Amino acid sequence: LNRTSFPPGFIFGTASSAYQYEGAANEGGRGPSIWDTYSHRYPGNISDRSNGDVAVDQYHRYKEDVGIMKYMNTDSYRFSISWSRILPKGKISGGINQEGIKYYNNLIDELLANDLLPFVTLFHWDLPQALQDEYGGFLSPHIINDFQDYAELCFKEFGNRVKYWTTFNEPWSYSMGSEPYMTSHYQLLAHAAAVKLYKKSYQASQKGLIGITLNCHWFIPFTNDTLDQKAAQRALDFMFGWFMQPLTTGNYPETMQSLLGSRLPNFTEEQSKLLIGSFDFIGLNYYTTNYAAHMSHQVNHTNNIVTNYIQDTRVNFTTERNGNPIGPRAASSWLFVYPRGLRELLLYIKMKYNNPVIYITENGMDESNDPTLPLEEALMDTYRIDYFYRHLYHISAAIKDGVKVQGYFAWSLLDNFEWSSGYTLRFGINFVDYKDNLKRHQKLSAHWFRNFLQKQ
Ligand code: GCO
Repeated sequence: LNRTSFPPGFIFGTASSAYQYEGAANEGGRGPSIWDTYSHRYPGNISDRSNGDVAVDQYHRYKEDVGIMKYMNTDSYRFSISWSRILPKGKISGGINQEGIKYYNNLIDELLANDLLPFVTLFHWDLPQALQDEYGGFLSPHIINDFQDYAELCFKEFGNRVKYWTTFNEPWSYSMGSEPYMTSHYQLLAHAAAVKLYKKSYQASQKGLIGITLNCHWFIPFTNDTLDQKAAQRALDFMFGWFMQPLTTGNYPETMQSLLGSRLPNFTEEQSKLLIGSFDFIGLNYYTTNYAAHMSHQVNHTNNIVTNYIQDTRVNFTTERNGNPIGPRAASSWLFVYPRGLRELLLYIKMKYNNPVIYITENGMDESNDPTLPLEEALMDTYRIDYFYRHLYHISAAIKDGVKVQGYFAWSLLDNFEWSSGYTLRFGINFVDYKDNLKRHQKLSAHWFRNFLQKQ
């Protein structure tokens, strides 16, 4: 298996996001985002009490990082734009920060000069704090216009060079931060509004593509019992159908409607029309697989959003059966390696959602940050090579079965700020030395990618 096992034009890249990488939180005119506020206000919620103030300093080191991508022979780089870096107050009326625009221009130009295609996410969770303060961010319909304006600014400034856009990254995950059904509803509507604008005013001249990135696990029924099979289907509906069904049919999945009743907002006819077909491609983030077992009744409403959500699904999610884990565990407690799940998921999407064009926008695994390990040892990530190789194998098999996967982005280019796990987990193909001035070192998997992606 190597580059040539994939169809011509298939793009390989690595992925990142602004808050996890950039740093320079108080530099260059950037305004605060909700992740600045959260990590500073509640340091106890981050494993190592850290934050993204410096992160891996890509803001200052993007040239070096592009060199690393070049070394790996990748074709593309997936990164996100920090909304509050270009609109510090979140809105055009609050002023456009030219220094922020300049940073992304520099990054994009550096990528293109090195034959790397920019693959840009508009929203990877770092909402401008000002919009959270003003109206509660994605809990309010006001977000739709503000997101649309922000997206338009990006199309105008960068669209002559950026040919791949995704509006949202993992709305499912973002929703687990507050009132999931409302937060998702407004992300979907904001997505549809931005896509409509792009298609109406920019696509013909700029000739780019626009989509959304969704994450999903694969789910295996815990037993062959019909109830467990239905539970696995519900799990897919509540994780993927929640977004994909509106994007293809204009409505939420039947299972969600019947289980949630009036807690699930409605789309007007006009909104449904706007949603249907509002993508050129689907970005898919896949990491792991779970077992799904039927849960007979809802217990009690708790204060924990995720617990409530799981109860809503009436599914017991597990990662082992008869004492055997579904696959080897990575460092993250939720990440069990099960490469075949990606192939199953791709075939399911093809069948259920009319075979959309798909880019795998994230796939990867982590090791823990063990500061006592000698550097040399920390770079020997043979398990990561195995992880990528097996997932790529299953993607190539799915492509042979007619799934339209057109690209693959590994998470992640570098070790970085892993949200509430801070710097305790390392998802990078390249090592960042947090004890030595954030120096980058290639792990074995970087060399492996270089070989795998060699152009013949
Ligand atoms: C995402 C992800 C990334 C994470 C990665 C590993 O939603 O795009 O959360 O930002 O770092 O998934 O957990």
